[in-house]
Formats: sequence, structure tokens, C-alpha cells
Amino acid sequence: MPPLDEYLAAQHDAFERDLFELLRIESISAKSDHRAEIGRAAQWVADHLKGLGLAVDLVETPGNPIVYAESPAVPGAPTVLVYGHYDVQPVEPLAEWLSPPFEPTKRDGNVYARGATDDKGQMLTHVKSAEAWLRSVGRLPVRLKFVIEGEEEVGSGNLAPYLAANRERLACDVVVISDTSQFAPGQPAITYGLRGIACFELRLVGPKQDLHSGTFGGAVMNPAVAMCQMLAALRDADGRVTTPGFYDDVVPLTPDERRKFAALPFDEGQFQRQIGASGLAGEAGFTTLERRWARPTFDINGLWSGYQGEGFKTVLPARAGAKLSFRLVPAQDPKKIAVALERQLKALCPPGIEMELVDMHGAAAVVVPLDSPWVAAASRAIERAFGRAPVFMREGGSIPIVAIFRELLGVDTLLLGWGLDDDNTHSPNEKFCLADFHRGIAASAYLWEELAASQDRATAQKPASSAAPVGGQKPARAQKTV
Ligand code: BES
Ligand code: MN
Ligand code: MN
Repeated sequence: MPPLDEYLAAQHDAFERDLFELLRIESISAKSDHRAEIGRAAQWVADHLKGLGLAVDLVETPGNPIVYAESPAVPGAPTVLVYGHYDVQPVEPLAEWLSPPFEPTKRDGNVYARGATDDKGQMLTHVKSAEAWLRSVGRLPVRLKFVIEGEEEVGSGNLAPYLAANRERLACDVVVISDTSQFAPGQPAITYGLRGIACFELRLVGPKQDLHSGTFGGAVMNPAVAMCQMLAALRDADGRVTTPGFYDDVVPLTPDERRKFAALPFDEGQFQRQIGASGLAGEAGFTTLERRWARPTFDINGLWSGYQGEGFKTVLPARAGAKLSFRLVPAQDPKKIAVALERQLKALCPPGIEMELVDMHGAAAVVVPLDSPWVAAASRAIERAFGRAPVFMREGGSIPIVAIFRELLGVDTLLLGWGLDDDNTHSPNEKFCLADFHRGIAASAYLWEELAASQDRATAQKPASSAAPVGGQKPARAQKTV
């Protein structure tokens, strides 16, 4: 057995022990009282990368720390930037977890814990593959740069300024992210598109305090009623968003892409059973995969007002609130949508109600080209590790920084997801299949080799002067100075 594969086999249990250690850290970025745990997770990742002999920088930001690490340059080989996140989503409702969210538990080949698949487990596959190369072969076939942040789940607000200020340090040929899913169990995928997002909190205030709904009801506008009317007006009977101009910039699906989606082995009945809903719904005229991957949406993520406790309270609440999000597709602009939404909501807001719309965060959608040598290299690496060639798909979730990597570093991202659709990300009982964790480590280890080989191929085919920037529209690699 080659030393690399031997190392992967020998360290099987140690890889899991390290993953479980990271999963015990309660690094919830949405909650300010978890700042210390965020710090511990950042330190854990930094220490781990330091232990591999990489040059590591634990970068403080106005928010959560960014872990940066790099290996030495490899002459003639590409530089690959690995991005991941150590922060996780809140765990509520706690009562629905079968084992505690921060006590990683093995059940039927999976590890159950918050962050298991999103993204600690997936992110760690690249750290462990680097370890495998360094401890078996003694060197990496490509130069690796790691950017592991702690604010992905809250919009990556402090990462973009860090990228902008460190463009030369972060210069690379391609970005690799494992923070998505396979198409199905046993069917790996390369994701070439992600939706964008625009998130808001809408706050409505009526009377100065809660009122008796008998004494005052009918004569005073109820903010909960106003909220229902306003939110209901944001989409029409066909499931389309009514915000003026919302669809103006949408790049329509091409007939070719629709055919390719339709050719994927997607079973609608099984999908419905998996989510446990009594029926499916969405924008008229589109299939379920089109609705999930390539059409924009409006959703309510949280909604509150009035009395929620036991029994009944005849109250006319003083306030109502809602958390709203829109998933976006190329080339919608979250900022433009924020402006149009505020104008629309102000017009819908009835007399007697004060409204405030808080713009939480936004990110643009991305679609990456499939005809690059990087994609071909990733396909080979995945096929070697998973025993099956990947299919190409889009996903409905968002990774805010991907669009910014293209904008600021001029590079495309390989989205190589080892998760599964039923991993319960952001939900109770989040899990990650441990066999996929190990296959992910192997795929990542082979990826460094395949990317190095693809650079050799590109160099062999082209005159020396134009060899480096495969893909075209990027700053010259010569700018790299660290
Ligand atoms: N890993 C997900 C993104 C994702 C989910 C990609 C599903 C593909 C399929 C990421 O951690 C995430 O949850 N992103 C947030 C971004 C938001 C908080 C700005 C999302 O999509 O809701
Ligand atoms: Mn994630
Ligand atoms: Mn997430």
C-alpha cells in the first residue's frame, strides 16, 4: 500500500477522536454569550494546524477570530486555498435531540453532534489530508492556504474586509470548500451553484403596551394582524415574490440546464417522505430541484407576537416581529432587494403601526464554470476515494464568501460536499456519516495530487508565459508575496 493510504488506514480512529474533540466545543456564533467557546474552537483549529508544521496566524477581528495557515510554496504546483468554518448554528429545540448536541455520539455509522457535517467534520477532512501527506510522504504536492472562520452562520461580515486587506497573502489558483452535500448516499457530487441570501428582521409596534383585547380591540390596529397582512402580501398565489423588481436581474434557467436537472435520479416521493411533509409546494412552473437550486424564494424564519403560554390570554399585543429571508439566484443583488423591500413594506404598513426593517446580512448567488482543469482534477480525486464519479448539481443553501472569493481574489471555488441531504443541518440530531468523513479525507488527499498533476498538464500544453492562470480572469500569480 502506498504510504499515504497506509497512513489514512492507520490513523482511522485518531481522525475520529480529533473530530469528536472539536465537536465538544460549543462554538455557536449567533449567541454573544458563547464568545469564549468561539475562542476555544478557533484556538483548537490553530493549534492543530500548527501541529502540522504550518505557519499559523490567529487573526482577531471585531467579531470572531479567523484562523489562517499556510504551507511553503511548491515550485510549479498550484496554490489551493481551503475555506471552512468552525462556528455552528444554535441547538434549539434541545428536547428533540436524542443525544446532547455537544456530546458527539456514534450511532449506526454516523456521528451525531451540532457541527458534525456543518462544517467541523467536512472542514477537518482537509486538515487531516494535509496531515496525511506531511506525516507519510513528508511534503505537500501543492501549496495549501487555510482560511477557517467563525462567522459563516451569521453572514461572514468580518471575513470580506480581511480578504480585501490580504489579497496578496491569500492569492491562490483555486478555492476548495467542503460545506455542501453529496447528491445521494453513494452518489458524490460537485456543486457548481449556490443561492445567495438576503436576511431581515421586521419589527412592528402598535400601542405603547399590551392592551385588553375586549376593551380596545377593534378600535386599535393590532401589530400581529398587521404583520400577517404585510407578510401575506409578499408572495402571490403562484408562489412568486411580489417585491417590485425582484425578478428583474434573475438569470433564467437554460433549457439545457433544465434537461440536466431532470436527468438526475431524483425521487420526489422519497424526498417528501424524508422531510415528513404531507405535500410539496413552490413557485408554479418549476420542478422541485429547480425550486430548490435555481429559483429565488421568500421565507419566514421566525415569527412572534402576543401570548404563547398555557391557556388563553385576551391580549392585544403592543409588538410583533418576524425574521425574513430571501434566497437569491444569479444575478440578483441583495442590496437592491433590501431597498425595494423596505419601500414595499412601508407602503403595506397600516396606520397606527410603526415599522422598522433591520437588514441583517446578504450575499450574492454563485455559479462556477465546469469546464476547468480544477473540476476535472476534483472529479478524478472523488472517483478514486468514493468509487464513483461525481454528478454535477446546484444547491439551495448559501456560503456568503464564495462570491467574494471571485470578486476579490479572482478565483473560482470547488464545492466538494461530503454531507447528505438528511444530515439535519441547523436542526436537531445533526449527523455526519463517518465513512464519508474518511472518504472525504481520502478524496482531499488525492485532490492535492490531482491538482498538482493538472497544473503539470496545463503547463505542458501551453507556452511558458501563459501557463499559470488557468481559467483566465485572475490576477497574475506572480503577485504572491508572503
Ligand atoms: N453549509 C451551509 C451552506 C449550505 C447548506 C450549502 C446546504 C449547501 C446546502 C452553510 O453553513 C449555511 O448554513 N449557510 C447559511 C448562510 C447564511 C446564514 C448567511 C445558509 O445557507 O442559511
Ligand atoms: Mn456550513
Ligand atoms: Mn450552516
